[in-house]
Amino acid sequence: MTANASDAADGDAAGTISPDECHSLQELHAALDALHHFPLRRMARHTVLHDGNPQSRILLVGEAPGREEDLHGRPFVGRAGQLLDKMLAAIGLGRHAEDPQQAVLITNVLFWRPPGNRKPTDAELGFCAPWLHRLMQLTRPQVIVTLGGTPTQRLTGQPAGILRLRGKWQEAQIPGLDAPVPLLPMLHPAYLLRQPAQKRLAWRDLLTLRAFLDEHGAGS
Ligand code: URA
Repeated sequence: MTANASDAADGDAAGTISPDECHSLQELHAALDALHHFPLRRMARHTVLHDGNPQSRILLVGEAPGREEDLHGRPFVGRAGQLLDKMLAAIGLGRHAEDPQQAVLITNVLFWRPPGNRKPTDAELGFCAPWLHRLMQLTRPQVIVTLGGTPTQRLTGQPAGILRLRGKWQEAQIPGLDAPVPLLPMLHPAYLLRQPAQKRLAWRDLLTLRAFLDEHGAGS
């Protein structure tokens, strides 16, 4: 079992495989899907690992699947996801773009819907962390974009709120990756649906991302 798992999991973990034993996103998904000793897995319809193009250099990390994502098995397919797709399109990116330069890969820090869409606990996030790190080791993103406070705090270790951190470049130290990965925190699209006036901040952050991609030859 992985670190911190005992806080979040119960029952028998015998027979499950570890993240390091997975050598593709398909294997990672299958291994996560088999974690029936983890309470959130038992309650979920689907394990929601990723969507988009695994060849992309841009990894978007959200918080956790909601109702729609649990139904469909893919991250960000509800209203917030539709807004996210529009935001990406505004800077020439898309999860379904075939060209890896224009594509993104999308995941979350938690792979199952928490009941009632409650906030994930530290133990649940700790349980998922080695699996998220493995996804990053397999896809080697050149830049990470975190959506909202939860993934930003998890991946940067910064306790400040998202309104303080958004738009300011950070670095993520990912176990198993040689170098820190540049990380840009952005506002969560669900927050933007509730607070449309904040879309101007999101637009600034999208332009910051676009400038980075142009400068580093990715996503253009
Ligand atoms: N919100 C998230 O953070 N992730 C999803 O997949 C959907 C909504």
